[in-house]
Amino acid sequence: MNNRIKQMLLGGILALVVATPLATASRPAGTKPKINVTRAQKLYKQNGCAQCHKVRGLPGGGSMGPDLSRVGRRLKAAEIARYIKQPKAVNPKTKMPPTHLKPADLKTLSNWLASLK
Ligand code: HEC
Repeated sequence: MNNRIKQMLLGGILALVVATPLATASRPAGTKPKINVTRAQKLYKQNGCAQCHKVRGLPGGGSMGPDLSRVGRRLKAAEIARYIKQPKAVNPKTKMPPTHLKPADLKTLSNWLASLK
């Protein structure tokens, strides 16, 4: 085997070894890649979602709203985003207050919630 091929092989194997755990850590079966879970959980906390909701694995959480531990089974990221932005557009009688987030933050938060299944 010549050196160039050896190098390419090594590079490929290295890339796989490094990339695989990263990809699986942030990607529960069959959802979009690259969810910044740390950031999403921070937004979740900062915006008071835990006052009314629980998510398994996170401490505390209120029970006025539904448990969101598996919300990704029912709702897609876009639907969750709409819920966060304008709960009354989804359910006119809701007690959930609208939360104003930057578009990127809204996406991070709803992608993460949508990944909970
Ligand atoms: C004051 C309490 C309260 C706060 C704060 C709150 N919610 Fe809610 N949320 C509710 C209630 C109550 C519902 C139940 C359905 C309804 O009333 O429309 C709900 C429903 C939802 C749903 C739909 C769940 C389903 O299974 O249909 C999602 C998603 C959601 N909330 C996400 C969030 C996120 C994310 C935040 C933080 C940005 C948040 N909520 C903050 C009370 C709250």
